Amino acid sequence: LTKEKIIIMTKIIAIDGPAGVGKSTIANKLSKYLDAPVLMSGKLYRAVACEAIIQKKNPTNIKSIEIIAQNIDVNIYSDEQLYNDQIDQFSSKISSKKPIRQALINLQRSFPKNFRKSKKFCIIEGRDIGTVIFPKADIKIFMWASSEVRAIRRLEQVKKVNKKAKLTSIQKSIIERDLRDMSRKLAPLIPAADSYLCDNSNYSIEQSFKTILKIIKSKKY
Ligand code: DC
Repeated sequence: LTKEKIIIMTKIIAIDGPAGVGKSTIANKLSKYLDAPVLMSGKLYRAVACEAIIQKKNPTNIKSIEIIAQNIDVNIYSDEQLYNDQIDQFSSKISSKKPIRQALINLQRSFPKNFRKSKKFCIIEGRDIGTVIFPKADIKIFMWASSEVRAIRRLEQVKKVNKKAKLTSIQKSIIERDLRDMSRKLAPLIPAADSYLCDNSNYSIEQSFKTILKIIKSKKY
């Protein structure tokens, strides 16, 4: 008799959506609840941008930024280094370039393999996870909120450190990034046809979390 092998295939939860919609907040909450590892793909683009800035590269110098992307290690940068206006803009610019996206594909696709047999779910959040990186993801969530709502939420966070922050300039920068992310030719931000659309403009984080959890549970994995 041959021994029966039980292979647990980790279910991939893809969460896509625009900047500031709460993807990482929801991904982290789901991660705790489901004991699922999470990959924030935007962090990869941010780390590449950060290293390019450290090396004084121009965002148009794609050849040398490609080499940075091929060798990137996200763990060596602090959150302060990765999450600021300069990196927001720089990472958004370089993420429209094919060699940069190409260089980061394997890192993203190999993520679930690490948990193949140990975790029931893994979560990957970004812009093109359900469309390009994992077109066969088991559950695809596309989160949305109006740019005004996202700007108001962002203002509340920024005000803690910068009392002079202005809603109009925050909203302008969000719209600029949306436009760039949604109109680029390569892997644009767009809902996958088989994704669940979750507009959280009028939802609290808790409501949004419960809604998405309900979708995941309805699959009865
Ligand atoms: O999610 P984030 O704001 O940390 O992402 C930073 C930038 O990287 C953002 O401008 C869009 C880009 N990005 C992307 O093009 N594709 C992804 N899967 C994730 C992020």
